[in-house]
Amino acid sequence: MESRTQVGIVGAGPAGLVLSHLLQREGIDCVVLEDRSREYVEKRVRAGVLEQGTVDLLTELGLADRLHREGLVHQGIELRFDGEGHRIPFEELAEGRAITIYGQQEVVKDLIAARLDAGGPLLFEVDDVSLDGIDTDEPTIRFKHEGVEKELHCDAIAGCDGFHGVCRPSVPDGVLSFNELEYPFAWLGILAEVAPSTDELIYAPHERGFALHSLRSPELSRLYVQCDPEDSLEDWPDERIWEELHVRLARDDGWTLKEGPLVEKGIAPLRSFVAQPMQYGRLYLAGDAVHIVPATGAKGLNLAVADVQVLGEALTKYLKGGDGSLLDAYSDACLRRVWRVQHFSWWMTWMLHRFPDDDGFQRGLRRAQLEYVCSSRAAAATLAENYVGLGRDW
Ligand code: APR
Ligand code: PHB
Repeated sequence: MESRTQVGIVGAGPAGLVLSHLLQREGIDCVVLEDRSREYVEKRVRAGVLEQGTVDLLTELGLADRLHREGLVHQGIELRFDGEGHRIPFEELAEGRAITIYGQQEVVKDLIAARLDAGGPLLFEVDDVSLDGIDTDEPTIRFKHEGVEKELHCDAIAGCDGFHGVCRPSVPDGVLSFNELEYPFAWLGILAEVAPSTDELIYAPHERGFALHSLRSPELSRLYVQCDPEDSLEDWPDERIWEELHVRLARDDGWTLKEGPLVEKGIAPLRSFVAQPMQYGRLYLAGDAVHIVPATGAKGLNLAVADVQVLGEALTKYLKGGDGSLLDAYSDACLRRVWRVQHFSWWMTWMLHRFPDDDGFQRGLRRAQLEYVCSSRAAAATLAENYVGLGRDW
């Protein structure tokens, strides 16, 4: 069965969904294809820090009512080590720009509901997605839906199908270059039904490994401990997780960490990855399909949204005005920001984690960087402005 649209979007994560709303606002037809069920993508626990720019865009698109009602605005984070806390005040150091704590799956829920309410085509549980003619002006997406073979003819395809999707591998060999760094540790993340023990995120480098106290709501805490990438959940019974969190997050002024029942637990590797260029023919890659950042900088979702903000504008100019100049420059426009965010995320990971093969010199460098960030206004400002997001001119 054949059909036609202007933009075929593969993947209903933050990148694909935000792009669908940007194009819809411009009156451009698009179809979103997702291979998982609605229930699965809305339940998938991921990170939860939104940059100022991401919140501003979702607000502009009229998609942020629940975010503003339930999201928690933070004006700073704490770096905690040697039993002491060091606050990085965004209000002072980042011109009052802030972050908002709001789970990625909540963002995805809101975007899906708005897309379906507006009658925008969004197909879940599609199978066997494959791309054809991406080096022509009329690319095609083939897929199966409800057991029926389908062909979607497009003017352009947006590959928003994440790291393990089919779009990036559809680019012929030799076109893309791959830059990656695997870190010798992973994060064990938990979601606990207990009121957060902090009002702002706590990043804690420790000789036993990094720990992070984040949150989801006044009733839900989100916490992470650095662990060995070979570890399995069997190696981490709940008691051991809490024990490590108490030790690594300890503060000498009697601060205490509240425990509660775990509702989610998972181990995720940390890696840095960039494939470039971010386009081939009429296929445009965005988000995790083309770059991965370690979670330490809380940038994954925000980088995906920033990509499609550029792509949305470029597709609009091409499809409404026939001017392909922004589309041709899409990759270059994004890569400058992608590499800035890659550097920040690597830098935060390097500074805050214990590397298994650390020698005294490496430990000394990390310590010196940490103390500098906590004692120099200029260094703290660098962290603050990157953390809240550098804005559209990047
Ligand atoms: N066909 C259709 N959909 C697919 C396919 C496929 N072959 N392969 C993957 N998908 C879907 C996935 O199920 C997922 O819903 O594409 C979507 C990709 O979404 P994300 O992985 O969330 O990627 P992205 O939208 O780029 O958002 C990046 O997500 O993983 C986090 O930390 C990451 O926060 C970052 C954000
Ligand atoms: C989260 O809330 O899940 C979170 C916060 C900050 C990070 C990573 C994850 O750096």
